[in-house]
Amino acid sequence: MATLLAFRLLPLLALLPLLPTALAAEDGADAAALVRLKQSFSDPTGRLEAWSASSPSTPCNATSPWPGAQCYKGMLVGLRLTHMNLSGTFDFGAIAKLPGLHSVNLKHNNFSGPLPASLGTVRSLRALYLSFNAFTGPVPADVFVNMRWLKKLYLDNNNMTGPLPADAIAAAPRLIELHLDRNQIDGAIPFKLPATLQRFNVSHNRLTGSIPPEVAKRYDKSAFAGNPGLCGSPGSDTAVCVAAGPAPPPAMPPPTAADYIAVQEETSVFVVIGIILLVILLVTGAMVLMLRQDERNSAAPAYDYYAGGGAMGASAAAGAVAGSSKAAAGSSSSAGPRAAEMVAVDVAAAGSSSSHGGAGSRRMGEFVLLTDDIPPFGLPDLMKASAEVLGNGTLGSAYKAAMRNGFTVAVKRMRDMNRVGRNEFEQHIHMLGELSHPNVLPPVGYHYRKEEKLIVSEYMSRGSLLYILHGDQSPNRVILDWHARVRIAVGVARGLAFLHEKLGIPAGRLVSMDGADFDAPPPPPHGNLKSGNILLDANMEPRLVDYGFFPLVNAAQAPQAMFAFRSPEGTTRGVVSARSDVYCLGVVLLELVTGRFPSQYLLSSRGGTDVVHWAAAAVAEGGERELVDPAIAAGGAGDAAVRLLRVGVHCAKPEPECRPTVAEAAWMVEEIAAGGAS
Ligand SMILES: *[C@@H]1O[C@H](CO)[C@@H](O)[C@H](O)[C@H]1NC(C)=O
Ligand SMILES: *[C@@H]1O[C@H](CO)[C@@H](O)[C@H](O)[C@H]1NC(C)=O
Ligand SMILES: *[C@@H]1O[C@H](CO)[C@@H](O)[C@H](O)[C@H]1NC(C)=O
Ligand SMILES: *[C@@H]1O[C@H](CO)[C@@H](O)[C@H](O)[C@H]1NC(C)=O
Ligand SMILES: *[C@@H]1O[C@H](CO)[C@@H](O)[C@H](O)[C@H]1NC(C)=O
Repeated sequence: MATLLAFRLLPLLALLPLLPTALAAEDGADAAALVRLKQSFSDPTGRLEAWSASSPSTPCNATSPWPGAQCYKGMLVGLRLTHMNLSGTFDFGAIAKLPGLHSVNLKHNNFSGPLPASLGTVRSLRALYLSFNAFTGPVPADVFVNMRWLKKLYLDNNNMTGPLPADAIAAAPRLIELHLDRNQIDGAIPFKLPATLQRFNVSHNRLTGSIPPEVAKRYDKSAFAGNPGLCGSPGSDTAVCVAAGPAPPPAMPPPTAADYIAVQEETSVFVVIGIILLVILLVTGAMVLMLRQDERNSAAPAYDYYAGGGAMGASAAAGAVAGSSKAAAGSSSSAGPRAAEMVAVDVAAAGSSSSHGGAGSRRMGEFVLLTDDIPPFGLPDLMKASAEVLGNGTLGSAYKAAMRNGFTVAVKRMRDMNRVGRNEFEQHIHMLGELSHPNVLPPVGYHYRKEEKLIVSEYMSRGSLLYILHGDQSPNRVILDWHARVRIAVGVARGLAFLHEKLGIPAGRLVSMDGADFDAPPPPPHGNLKSGNILLDANMEPRLVDYGFFPLVNAAQAPQAMFAFRSPEGTTRGVVSARSDVYCLGVVLLELVTGRFPSQYLLSSRGGTDVVHWAAAAVAEGGERELVDPAIAAGGAGDAAVRLLRVGVHCAKPEPECRPTVAEAAWMVEEIAAGGAS
C-alpha cells in the first residue's frame, strides 16, 4: 500500500522542474550544447535554423525561444523535436551537461543506427521519447543503470534487436513506463520488473519462452501479443499463451507525408491528420477572448450549467432547467461580473502582476502542458481563439476556446483553489494529468497564479449529461434511449471505480488534509460527481471531469463547491468520505432512470425532484416501474431499468456504511448492462 502512494508521489516530484537558480547551466551553455547537438543530425526542413551560434536570441529567450526548446523560468527543461524528418544520429553527449533537462522527445523522425553510448550520460532525464524512428541494435543497459531518474522510456516502433538487459531493467529505480512494442527484440521476458513499472509493452517483437506469471498478472495481455514464439508458463491460469499466428508485422515503414504534422514556431499552422490529438495551450496574461454570448444558439452544449452554488441560486438553475442557456449566462451577469468583464479583469491582473515582477520583461504567465504526445503549440493561436461561456459551475466558469487551426479546448477558471501552495498544486495536477481511462477526461494543461488557476481539457462538443437530459430543447436534440443510458451508467461507474482505485487512500490509513485533524476520513476521490460534470464524447461515452480537486479547494468553500457535501453526512455533519462519491453516483443513476432533474443539485430546496426520497419510497412500496422515464419505458427497458433504479437507491442510502463501495456498485451496474434490456 505504501508503494502505491510512492508510485503517485515520486513521479510528480521529479516532474517538477528544478529550481533554476541552484542548477542553471552557465550562461550560454545551453546554446552551445544545442549548436553542438545539431551538428550530429541533419535537419532537411530547416526548422532548426535558429539553432546557431550567431542567433541573436538564446534557447530560452522569453520572446523568441529556439524552436523545440521547452523552458521553465529561463531554464531549458525539455527538447521536443517531433515530426521534423530529422535523420542521422543524435549526440546525447552534447546535452549531457544540462542539469535541468528532463525530457527529450524525438518521436516521428528518421533517426537511425544503434542508440549511442552517450545516451546513458544524460543523467537528468525523466522522460525519453524515441518512438517512430529507425533506431537499431540492442536496448542499452546503460539507460537503466545510469539514468537514475528515468521514469518513461518510449522506444516503440523502431527496429531494436537483441535480448532485453533484464538485470538492468529490474534495477531501474524509478521507471514507470517502458514501451518496447513493434521492434525486433528477441530472447525472454525478464522475470523481474521494477515494482514501480506501471506500463510495460513488448508486443509485436520476436520474444520467446514463457511469460513469467508474476509479470503476466501485472499487465494486460495485449502487452505481450504479437510474439509468435511466446507462450504462457504451464500451470498458471493467469499465463498468457499467444497462439502461433501470423508473423509479426514488419517494423513501421518510414513515415509518409500524411504522418507528418507540420510544426513550426509560434505562428505556424498545425494540421492534424488521423486520430484526435488533444492540444492546448494557453497563456492567460495575453489571452484575448472574443466572447460571443449573444450568438449562443439553443444547440450550444453546457458544461456544469446548473450551479446550485456560489453566486448562482436556484432561480438561475431553474431557468436553465427550463432550457434557456441564455438564462444561465444572463443570471450570472446579474450575480457577478459578466464573463467578458471577468476576462478583462484577468488580463489586467496579469499585466499588473508582471509590472510588480519588476524584472522589465513582461511575463506572459506560464502555461504548463501535461502531455507529451502532442506537437508544440504557440501562444498566438490561443490569443486568436474565439471563446464562449460554457457555464458557471460551483468551482468556476468554463469557456470554450476555439483556435483557428481547428482545435478547441475547454478552459476552466478555478475559484477558491488556494488550499495548498504552488508546488503542491502542481504536483497534484501533474498526477491528475497522468490518470488515463476511457471514462475520465484528464486535464491537459494548466496555468497557475496565486489569484487564479486555469485548467484546460479537451473540449467535448456534446456537452454534459445534465444538458442532454434536461437542458437541450432544440428540435434535433438527442434523446437518450435505454441502451444509451445504461452505457452511460456503466461508463460513469467504471470511471469512478478507476478514480477510487488510483486516488483512494488505502483502507486503514487515515490521512488528514490539514495535518491536524486525524479523525477526518480520507477525502472522496472524485468529490464532485454530478451529471453536469459528466461530459459525453462523440460516441456518447461518458467522460468524468472536475474530479480529484478535494485537496486543492479551500476548506471554507468546499461545502458549497463540491457536490459530495450534498450527501446526508455532508449536509448534517460536514464530513465526507469515499462513500459520499457513492451517494453522488446514486443520484446520477436515479437521474438516468427517472429522467428527472434532481433537487439535490440545487442549494435551495425549490425546484427539481427529490429523486432520492422518491425512489426510496417507491422501492419500499413496490411502485418502482412508475418512476421509469417514459422516454425509456416505451423502449422496453422494463425490469432492467427497475434494477438500475434499485442500485441507485442502494448507493444513495442515508447512512454511508450502508452504501456499497464504488467497485461493488460498478459491478452491479455492469451486471444489469450485461443482462441486456429485455
Ligand atoms: C531575445 O530575442 C530578441 C529577438 O530575437 C532579442 O532582441 C533580445 O535581445 C533577446 N533577449 C535576450 C535576453 O537574449
Ligand atoms: C531517412 O534517412 C535515410 C538515411 O539515413 C534517408 O536515406 C531517407 O531518405 C530518410 N527518409 C526520410 C523520409 O527523410
Ligand atoms: C528494420 O530492419 C529490417 C532488417 O534488418 C529492415 O528490412 C527494415 O527496413 C528496417 N526497418 C526500419 C523502419 O528501419
Ligand atoms: C501494446 O502495444 C500495442 C501496439 O503496439 C497496443 O495495441 C496494445 O494495446 C498495447 N498494450 C498495452 C497494455 O499497452
Ligand atoms: C519528410 O520527408 C518526406 C520524404 O522525404 C517528405 O515527403 C515529407 O513531406 C517530409 N515531411 C516534412 C514535415 O517535412
